[in-house]
Amino acid sequence: MGLPEERSRSGSGSGAREEARARNPVRSWSPPPEVSRSAHVPSLQRYRELHRRSLEEPREFWGDIAKEFYWKTPCPGPFLQYNFDVTKGKIFIEWMKGATTNICYNVLDRIVHEKKLGDKVAFYWEGNEPEETTQITYQELLVQVCRFSNVLRKQDAFYRGEKLVNLKELADETLEKCQEKGFPVKCCIVVKHLGRAELGTGDSPSQSPPIKRLCPDVQGKPKEKPKHIRPQDHCGREDQAVCQKVSTVQLAEAEPGKEQEEEQGVVHTVGGYMLYVATTFKYVFDFHAEDVFWCTADIGWITGHSYVTYGPLANGATSVLFEGIPTYPDVSRLWNIVEKYKVTKFYTAPTAIRLLMKFGDEPVTKHSRASLQVLGTVGEPINPEAWLWYHQVVGAQRCPIVDTFWQTETTFPFFGVAPAILNESGEELEGEAEGYLVFKQPWPGIMRTVYGNHERFETTYFKKFPGYYVTGDGCRRDKDGYYWITGRIDDMLNVSGHLLSTAEVESALVEHKAVAEAAVVGHPHPVKGECLYCFVTLCDGHIFSPALTEELKKQIREKIGPIATPDYIQNAPGLPKTRSGKIMRRVLRKIAQNDHDLGDTSTIVDPSIITQLFSHRCLTI
Ligand code: WTA
Repeated sequence: MGLPEERSRSGSGSGAREEARARNPVRSWSPPPEVSRSAHVPSLQRYRELHRRSLEEPREFWGDIAKEFYWKTPCPGPFLQYNFDVTKGKIFIEWMKGATTNICYNVLDRIVHEKKLGDKVAFYWEGNEPEETTQITYQELLVQVCRFSNVLRKQDAFYRGEKLVNLKELADETLEKCQEKGFPVKCCIVVKHLGRAELGTGDSPSQSPPIKRLCPDVQGKPKEKPKHIRPQDHCGREDQAVCQKVSTVQLAEAEPGKEQEEEQGVVHTVGGYMLYVATTFKYVFDFHAEDVFWCTADIGWITGHSYVTYGPLANGATSVLFEGIPTYPDVSRLWNIVEKYKVTKFYTAPTAIRLLMKFGDEPVTKHSRASLQVLGTVGEPINPEAWLWYHQVVGAQRCPIVDTFWQTETTFPFFGVAPAILNESGEELEGEAEGYLVFKQPWPGIMRTVYGNHERFETTYFKKFPGYYVTGDGCRRDKDGYYWITGRIDDMLNVSGHLLSTAEVESALVEHKAVAEAAVVGHPHPVKGECLYCFVTLCDGHIFSPALTEELKKQIREKIGPIATPDYIQNAPGLPKTRSGKIMRRVLRKIAQNDHDLGDTSTIVDPSIITQLFSHRCLTI
């Protein structure tokens, strides 16, 4: 059909922006031939063939992949049934209905017993201190998981590990919330890891941490004093047990890291989730047996549970599990770890890249990154400046970068995913276009509902455009058919009727050498309706000044057009972010307006930033 681009960008139609785009042409890089030669999918043409088959013959495509896995009950009926159209009745998605499986059996027992990889390292664990390291093989992990699952079975409870102090606090808050919302949790198991006095009996941090059992006051009775239980009291006798092949079909996971007023429980199913994380891991990162994979995501974010835990384990991969942060003991920590474990595939978020860029190239280049083959990014639009640094400095121009857009709700737009771009009237746009990113049919890893609130599921994702799953993200398709995510639609800026995406303005700002990171929000304006209010974090050694603000304004005018010239630019020592690194623009909009009623700020990693940002507000234009 080939619709003109102005039509697709509802209400924008800015010729100046087209000119700006033409002045900043898209550059492209191809993967080195040796990488393509050994890849599972050696060419774009082959990728397109596989993708087409995944959409046209989903039963055969996913059925072949499913054969690799253990199913307690194979799928008895239709492989796929769904309705994406609210006008035709209830939204539902059913893949392999009636099939039952156990993800734990698939990622551990199967790898040890069928794939015979028991002696292979599953995780290299690197603690907060560089000298704190250990490793665990698949066989050892299986034994540990079996032992602990038997403890869990005895205790009708759930487990969350890692940083004990914070997680314990979080767990306590969550338990209270559960009670308030009428879902009382009867029992919670806490593993004592760091030996903090307030959490234990003063035991020194030990090799086998004591387990503490808390019984929260779910019935309004006085809280039972926490009992300390040694793991050996519970784990010892079940050493030889194997994971039971239980029939688990539903996995409900809460994602508290989202920038939303209320928490939501996204429902995934074990079978579809497992097939999808296993397949995306294999193809997106082009996994091979000898790889050392490292996903830096927090394990509590879906990127963590998918690409630290299930995806790598389902493939029998060796991964790095890192407890610390990229800047401790110094800003070269990530590259130190890459060198130490000879990491081949590295997956991180734009927020980490922008953070590290501030400190220049030397902390990266002083470590060997010769082992690196593929780099990945996830979580937010990656601006060209950060992409180039990642490519040129981290990947030494050798490593392809896979930019993986997905949502907790969707998992990857990958095999099985049919994206489309719609305009405001819900018409599909062909060719080069910009508008709403939607998906036309389901794939195994898509969410099935919002836990306990199916109506919310339908309203959030299906109501706006009947027949489509609506991501809430804006998107542009270029002439080569690549999709560029422009940011959340809710964050779009409307300046005198011109729609601008936060990502494009932020990218223009970050291209300036003084700017490490930027966040842009809309601000009420008597004439324009909305104007741009920008928060910029400067690189080390740069000073915020009126001259710099003028340079930044000029840069945006040149890159995007005069319509995008900001009215306010504020110095931001840091930006409010969720644990998964997403900038909380909702909070920034309030700060810009000096509105202290910020709503729920419990997901901000560093709340002290808020006070600093209020005190740095721009008072005049
Ligand atoms: C954003 C799970 C641009 C997007 C990964 C999406 C991205 C939301 C990218 C999902 C990317 C994620 N490029 N934007 N590569 N990846 N997003 O479920 O707005 O915490 O809708 O992330 O993150 O957030 P979630």
